[in-house]
Amino acid sequence: MAAGTALGNTPREGPRRAFRPVRTVGGFPEGRGHLEGKERGILSRCIAYMNQQTAVTQATAAKKTLPDAQTVTEVRHYTDDLFYFRTTRPQSLRFRSGEFVMIGLPGDDGKPIMRAYSIASPAWDDGLDFYSIKVQDGPLTSRLQHIKPGDEIILRPKPVGTLVLDALLPGKRLWFLATGTGIAPFASLMRDPETYEQYDEVIMMHTCREVAELEFGRELVESLPQDPLIGEFVGDKLKYYPTTTREDFRNMGRVTDNLASGKVFRDLGLPCEKMDPSADRAMVCGSLDFNKDVMAILEGWGLREGANSEPAEYVVEKAFVG
Ligand code: A2P
Repeated sequence: MAAGTALGNTPREGPRRAFRPVRTVGGFPEGRGHLEGKERGILSRCIAYMNQQTAVTQATAAKKTLPDAQTVTEVRHYTDDLFYFRTTRPQSLRFRSGEFVMIGLPGDDGKPIMRAYSIASPAWDDGLDFYSIKVQDGPLTSRLQHIKPGDEIILRPKPVGTLVLDALLPGKRLWFLATGTGIAPFASLMRDPETYEQYDEVIMMHTCREVAELEFGRELVESLPQDPLIGEFVGDKLKYYPTTTREDFRNMGRVTDNLASGKVFRDLGLPCEKMDPSADRAMVCGSLDFNKDVMAILEGWGLREGANSEPAEYVVEKAFVG
């Protein structure tokens, strides 16, 4: 459910900028006005950069004809079954990195076809990134996969979700566990300075059937340490552990197997072979079966599921399919 059964590459457009222009509120990126010291310095540079870009964003925003319409500003196809797109962001939309919104297109009968999509960009960004599978007979993605820059989509500006830092108790090491398009909320959280403020170490485990399906995540993760804006936050805190299950790759195996066997701990040189509920925190996003199997492992190690209302050691969300 989470991942496309991707086969083969499609041509992609040029390299992606990890950081985007930022909307400011009171001189600081929206939702980040509380940052201080070094963070403010870095974010001031973000603001200068983004201000240069504002004209471009405004010029791109076409006249809105749909209710809750947003304009597509970029599309990249990763495989025959996976694509990324970026849209303008409604002025009114405030969200926490890791949350999702409903997006869609008008159906043939004029009624909107809406699906839940994790926002793949961080809360401070002035555009919205999404990462989607293409279901050839899917009511929404059979059409959404054909969107182009300048087109409009419907976006309901009511973000929700449990994959938020607030739903976890303080800890030392944060695990992002995803299959397929389940990496989308983590593409947001990996670009949020708060992730690195709250944790000493962040581990991104992502498993797909084939190598080409890892590309979106690889491109993003590998750009971060050198990124002029977020790089200082990321430093050497972010460890990336991509694996495949159905195509040869340097590292293989399901997230569940690599956790349960201790392989990921050994491969990353961690001083333990399982998670410690006093230090490890996890966020899980994949298919229902994946989520269930990962939860069983985490619970076996003594981690408890948290929620916004009652933070604990891990949180889980289904990766949504269109
Ligand atoms: P596998 O190839 O062994 O089935 P899918 O496209 O079916 O959602 O799968 C995406 C990735 O998630 C695949 O690498 C798949 O591995 C893996 N996967 C599917 N189900 C589970 C599960 N219950 N636990 C762990 N990994 C899973």
